Amino acid sequence: MIVSGTLYRGLIERYRARLPIAADTRVISLCEGNTPLIPLENLARSVGRGLSLYAKFEGLNPTGSFKDRGMTMAVTQAASEGSRAIICASTGNTSASAAAYAARAGIRCFVLIPEGKIALGKLAQATIQGSVVIQIKGNFDDGMRIVKDMASVAPVAIVNSINPYRLQGQKTAAFEIVDALGRAPDYHCIPVGNAGNISAYWTGFSEYAAIQPKTAACGYCVDTCAFPFPAVIATRPVMVGYQAAGAAPFIAGHPVAEPETVATAIRIGNPQSWDLAWAAVRESGGWFDSLTDDEILHTQRRLAETEGVFCEPASAIAVAGLLRDIARGRIADGSVITCTLTGHGLKDPDTAIKQSQGPILQVAAENEAVKRAILDHL
Ligand code: F0G
Repeated sequence: MIVSGTLYRGLIERYRARLPIAADTRVISLCEGNTPLIPLENLARSVGRGLSLYAKFEGLNPTGSFKDRGMTMAVTQAASEGSRAIICASTGNTSASAAAYAARAGIRCFVLIPEGKIALGKLAQATIQGSVVIQIKGNFDDGMRIVKDMASVAPVAIVNSINPYRLQGQKTAAFEIVDALGRAPDYHCIPVGNAGNISAYWTGFSEYAAIQPKTAACGYCVDTCAFPFPAVIATRPVMVGYQAAGAAPFIAGHPVAEPETVATAIRIGNPQSWDLAWAAVRESGGWFDSLTDDEILHTQRRLAETEGVFCEPASAIAVAGLLRDIARGRIADGSVITCTLTGHGLKDPDTAIKQSQGPILQVAAENEAVKRAILDHL
């Protein structure tokens, strides 16, 4: 048992004072959060204009996506209320995360996923972590509708982002960004699917902006807190949300019946946090925009090739949109910009391999053959 030291123990312990959690609640955690804010120096150099670009790489959470931030809160709450089972609809990442936290809490997990439309890694996670996987012949929106009905007919707690504890956990990513930069970014770019995450970030940035300056330790944390000084900020970023062109209800202005995109994580036509996401964009002076699958995949590859950052297609859309908005002159010169890379590239190895341009050579197991291969590709 850990009794002392500075071991990182997850976002609930780090931000406990800013989360709706009782002191005596048993925390269900996989030490999620505390993800790196990676400077995208090569990309920044190539776009110029004095811009600073950073990626909040949420793929480095325990199950490989930002969902863990919300899931630690939702499952902690569900378990503390005595729930014996949780349920979610998912395009993959929520199911992987729910399965992991349910396993840790010792409760049952049911996940509804669209048949044939979730990335391989996510399915592997949900199954090995012991959840009951229910594949439906429909899309995420069908699954969401059914899950909402199930909560009233079976003893299961919903852990989709309509569960308010999910967004409470996810807002901590905004706290971390501000704590890392010592200021708010000027713009924050983020993929939008069910629209919970953009809403959570706006809550997080807004809560930090409401903190009054203090001269000593913040007074919110327990004395052992390793992060005693939240940055005090006067500004909030412009929030920019990007959707895939085939699944872009916020650009259409209404739900989309048959969403389709290679970025299966955001293959969603009827986002549940519609009003909250619009509020984030309107209040921050931001915008929504959409990108084609080609633009998404091109940027996924570019990030991997030029920065060594391998995110899943849905995540790359944040950077794809940003680069296009920079080219279109929508981003002020000299700005500090953060992008959320929501999930790890290893989640979807099929898509990565299909479009990867690194050569795979087949040669004899001989020095001469390997030497030739090296010299040909230097
Ligand atoms: N990026 C990834 C990798 C995702 O998995 C999701 C959502 C999003 C972006 C969009 O976030 O829904 O808060 O707007 N995935 C959900 C799931 C829907 O089931 O895993 P959002």
